[in-house]
Amino acid sequence: MNGQTRCDPCVILVFGATGDLARRKIFPALHALQRKGFLHAATPIVGVTRQAMSRQSFIDSLELELKLDAGAGGAQDAQPVEGASAGADAFPDLVHCVDFDYTQATLPAFVEFVDRISAQTNAGGNRAVYFALPADVFEKTATLLVQGRLFKDGAWRRIAFEKPFGQDLASAEDLNTKITCHFDEHEIYRIDHYLGKELVRNIMVLRFANPLFSQMWNAEFVDHVQITIAETLGVENRAGYYEQAGAVRDMLQNHLMQVLALTAMETPASLDADDVRDAMVRVIESLRPPTRDDFVLGQFGEGESDGRPVPGYRQEKGVDPQSATDTFVALRACVDSPRWSGVPFFLRTGKRMARKVAEANVVLRDQPCGLFNGESSVQGVPGPNLVSIRIQPNEGISVEFNVKVPGDGMRLETVAMEHCHHCVYGINTPEAYEILLQEFLRGDPTLFTRWDFVRASWLHIDRLMQLRANEPVSFPNYAAGTSGPPEAEALLGGGRRWLVSRDILY
Ligand SMILES: NC(=O)c1ccc[n+]([C@@H]2O[C@H](COP(=O)([O-])OP(=O)(O)OC[C@H]3O[C@@H](n4cnc5c(N)ncnc54)[C@H](OP(=O)(O)O)[C@@H]3O)[C@@H](O)[C@H]2O)c1
Repeated sequence: MNGQTRCDPCVILVFGATGDLARRKIFPALHALQRKGFLHAATPIVGVTRQAMSRQSFIDSLELELKLDAGAGGAQDAQPVEGASAGADAFPDLVHCVDFDYTQATLPAFVEFVDRISAQTNAGGNRAVYFALPADVFEKTATLLVQGRLFKDGAWRRIAFEKPFGQDLASAEDLNTKITCHFDEHEIYRIDHYLGKELVRNIMVLRFANPLFSQMWNAEFVDHVQITIAETLGVENRAGYYEQAGAVRDMLQNHLMQVLALTAMETPASLDADDVRDAMVRVIESLRPPTRDDFVLGQFGEGESDGRPVPGYRQEKGVDPQSATDTFVALRACVDSPRWSGVPFFLRTGKRMARKVAEANVVLRDQPCGLFNGESSVQGVPGPNLVSIRIQPNEGISVEFNVKVPGDGMRLETVAMEHCHHCVYGINTPEAYEILLQEFLRGDPTLFTRWDFVRASWLHIDRLMQLRANEPVSFPNYAAGTSGPPEAEALLGGGRRWLVSRDILY
């Protein structure tokens, strides 16, 4: 493994252990880390449930989804390190479960259980707490844990909060104020799983380890930048949450803002967590306040997905038939800095779109000399040079440029050079949550969202939402299975169009 070979002994507590996220992502990621030898043998993992379950039935329920034989997150090739908890069968030995009803009455028994497990396993006083819980119980639960003396003097304590961190600036500030009564910023790990994605982490390397790219990453060479996170799914079983959130709060406020920050940031002073996060925050703080012309909202109506007819958003289970919730947003963002003077960043996300894709496309300006433009002897217009960072699927980086087609005359064609990340390193390897949990257990906050970033991005989102607050809604305005409302195309202006990097098949 890179860096530190093993985490410190500690008790890991996963709250919301019966939930979708815990079962699908958190436990498989911990399992992968255990198989890689990162988890210390004295690292009990306690799943916290609301209903009482026997330890064995809890472990059994996890095994169903852990795919033990296949190995989670590409861990099958990993060589365990000395003294670590390793081996395919060792993971269940680390797993415990305890029920807790989140009241003062049962708090002492709950903490006593954790202390007992800690003593039995020699885990010591360190506590790593992961809240895979609904956001409205974050603060109450954190307060209870402090009151119940879960955390020990002289030991470290870390607490991870899933997104969303607030519904708007006021609620995020309120939550943060209450949490920071009990925890210092360096103990708080706000999760945005996009920061754990390999191709998102590659953005800094692409920009700052390669003069080829760093020299052109500015207004002199870049015409505009597009960042797209498109989903083909509808709201599935999350209508209760999504009706309150919508695409702006669910995706724009966090994932798209993080990718924007990494794409637009100045060179950090160092790779230290605070230097990197300082540079990221500055981008969001320097966003020009949006006007109503800077964004387009949408909601999908009925249409087709994967060749099947699908209902509109308002017909999905649990959704208000008159819902005004946005399932699509496209935003023109302007980063007020000399580097990006006059360069728009276009951010877009939506549900039930034509393709599932997440990527950042950096589109370069036309060649100033224009030698190949307008010459009658030249066939084909040179396309713009394009740098595409494909976050998912088909993870990779490609560069599009123009070549001459063989044969007589001067015929131009746009081709691509390709780094196929998943061909070299495997698909989604390691999984984002594995990276995040590893860094969380290591105590490195670089890949977690600092409070000032949350505040700056909510401020921008609040401004945007206020601009549309009282306007009449004419949803649905795009059909499922398409690229969103036509107005999103017009937002680009200047003859630009939304791009999806070409897929190169190996
Ligand atoms: N699922 C994802 O892919 C995903 C992605 C990004 C972020 N998140 C965030 O992760 C968190 C968990 O999401 P999820 O999808 O796992 O939700 P979920 O499937 O609804 O599970 C929530 C968990 O929290 C427990 N819980 C529910 N209400 C509670 C309450 N009032 N007090 C204490 N515990 C309560 C549930 O226990 P019971 O089983 O007893 O009901 C369950 O274990 C949420 O904040 C969500 O926004 C999830």
